[in-house]
Order: sequence, then C-alpha cells, then structure tokens
Amino acid sequence: QQLDLDIEQIEKGGYDHFMLKEIFEQSSSIHDTIRGRVSTKNNEVFLGGINDVIPKLVNARRILIIGCGTSWHAGMVGEYLFEEFARIPVEVEYASEFRYRNPVIFKDDIVLAISQSGETADTLAAIKLAKEAGATVLGICNVVGSSIPRETHAGVYTHAGPEIGVASTKAFTAQVTVLTMMAMVVGYRKGTLPKEEYHKLIQEFGKLPAKIKKILEKDAEIKELSKQYVDSTNALYLGRGYLFPVALEGALKLKEISYIHAEGYPAAEMKHGPIALIDEQMPVFVAATKDKSYEKIVSNIQEVKARKGHVIAIVTEGDSVISKMADYVIEIPETQEALAPLLTVIPFQLISYYIAVLRGCNVDQPRNLAKSVTVE
Ligand code: G6P
Repeated sequence: QQLDLDIEQIEKGGYDHFMLKEIFEQSSSIHDTIRGRVSTKNNEVFLGGINDVIPKLVNARRILIIGCGTSWHAGMVGEYLFEEFARIPVEVEYASEFRYRNPVIFKDDIVLAISQSGETADTLAAIKLAKEAGATVLGICNVVGSSIPRETHAGVYTHAGPEIGVASTKAFTAQVTVLTMMAMVVGYRKGTLPKEEYHKLIQEFGKLPAKIKKILEKDAEIKELSKQYVDSTNALYLGRGYLFPVALEGALKLKEISYIHAEGYPAAEMKHGPIALIDEQMPVFVAATKDKSYEKIVSNIQEVKARKGHVIAIVTEGDSVISKMADYVIEIPETQEALAPLLTVIPFQLISYYIAVLRGCNVDQPRNLAKSVTVE
C-alpha cells in the first residue's frame, strides 16, 4: 500500500493531481506533437502517417469527423480548420448518434475518428460502419497500438504521452494540433491555403510552446480568481468562431470535475435562451481574444453586464476595451486566429481545476466518469 502511494506520488511529478501535471505538460506535449512534423526551418509540415492519403483528402467531397466528449470538441475545431484552409465541407458527429441513425456515407467520404484512448466503443462502432460503406477512415489517437489505430486505414498519433486524469486536457490540445497540421497540409496542397499564410502558421507553431508557458505562469492569478466561483451553481461559457468549441470544452471541464452545471454556447446564441438565466449569481466565462469577431464578442459581453452577470474574459495581451467591462480578465499572448483554441483553452482548464479542488472534489477520478468508455 505504502509503496503504491509512493509510486503514485512519483508519477505525479510533484503536482497534487495528474490533471494539474497534464495541464502543465502542455508546453512540452505540444512540442512532442509537432516534433518531426512541423519544420520551421524548411517551412514544411509532414505527416508520415497520412502522407499516402493526402491526394484523397485534397479531392475529398466532404469530411465526416466523429468522436465523443472532449474528442468531439476537438473535432468541432477541426471543422472550422478544414473549411477555412482546405474549403472541404465538414460534418462533426457524435459517434453514438452517427452509428445508430442510418447515416449517409459515400465511398469517397473521408471519415476522421478522434479518440484519446483509441478504445471508445461508440467511436469504434462508427468506424466499422464507415468502413463497410467503403469510406476512407483515418484516426487521430493518443494511445499507440489501441483498437482505433488498428481499425483505421491510416492516421496520426497525437503523442501527448499518457493521460491519467479522467478530464482530458493535454490530449485535447494535441488533437487540435494534429487537426491544424492536417488542415494546413491539405489546404496548402490543394492551393486553398496561400503559401504565405501556410508559412506564417508554421512559424507561429514554433512559438506556441513558449506562449503556453507564459499562460501557465498565470497559475497563481487563476487560482486566486477561482475562489470566487467555488459556490456557484451554474456557469455559462461563451465563444465565437474557433472559440465556440473552446467554450464547449471549458464548460465540459467544469461540470466533469466540479459538478457545477455549466453550458457552453456560441456567444450570439445567448440571446435565444441562456440570457434569461443571467443574474448576479451567474459567472460567464468568455473566450474573447482579438479576431474577426472581436467587436461582436464585445457587444455580447455588454449584454451580459447589462444583466449584472459576472464576466471573466480571456483576452489578448494589452486589450484595453474588455478589461474595462469585465469583472476579471486573463491576458494571453497574441496568436493567429486559427491557433487561438490551443491557448484559450488553458485558462479554462486551470479555472475548472482550481474550482474543483477548492470544492473538495476528486479531480483525477470524478464520480460516475471513466477515462475510457468501452461499453455503450
Ligand atoms: C470519456 C472521457 C472523456 C473523453 C471521452 C472520449 O467520457 O472521460 O475525457 O473525452 O470519453 O474518449 P476518447 O478516448 O475516445 O477520446
């Protein structure tokens, strides 16, 4: 017993929980995901695992992305990426819905299955269905040699390293990183992502580990502000564009480990429902970094403030507009719009972690949840 405990302590590497360790690992895990794939020297992205199917991707009529939980959220980011860079229509599907609804699958469809564990039963079943229909099935998985990589025609490993905490953190950023690299390669080959843009993204990729480190340095500040929300019963997460899936993921993190009810919403949809819930008790977490919808998100924040909601905004360093309106801002380094999910999600992960710890929850093994769902 004593020995087991000691081993666990060693595995946690000085952190109180695996989740915190995994959040902090992201500056290096992202590096591991891009290592040997993104060359800032040669301005190239190379994905060996799918190199042979790139022509198929370039000519794809559509891409179906399937996954569950956090992997589904990564898939949502993938939709925005593939549509923007490669101009390929994308549908993102919950594996459990896809498999049971007699979906339309064409032989020239590319099905992209995303799974940290590579063992999720619904995702595996959806893959089998897609294969039977003659589609090309690719995987984005973390666990090497797991079932999904064995069932798919080709794929890319995320290389995030073992993720022990039930709530996914570094696997999510690794999945989004892989999707970004894939969309870049396909878009560039197809000619829909201009060379200068492609090169700019590659150069920015090289800077991400350092930028993530900078965000992680805000740990103490985030811990402090989390104290305010320990007794909240509800929370709303908002984002637009690339940051809408980040809002979904932020809400999922909070509900999974702190048991606070949380919802993620596209900021503009707030007026079609959730706005009715806003009062002084309601924390509203907003991903509001500078991008093309910045002005819009500023007015969404105004709408929340007009109803006395409590706004905690993730903003770009030096933002002087939102800092005057929001109750709290967390500044993060500037990056390209398409890469923003990789940075904005990190403060959300930390906020959830600290709120859950302060509530005395078992963050690494939340009640009723499993790391890998191998049954229906
Ligand atoms: C479970 C885990 C989640 C994960 C989801 C999908 O619900 O608790 O963290 O996102 O399964 O798992 P996968 O291994 O397929 O990514």
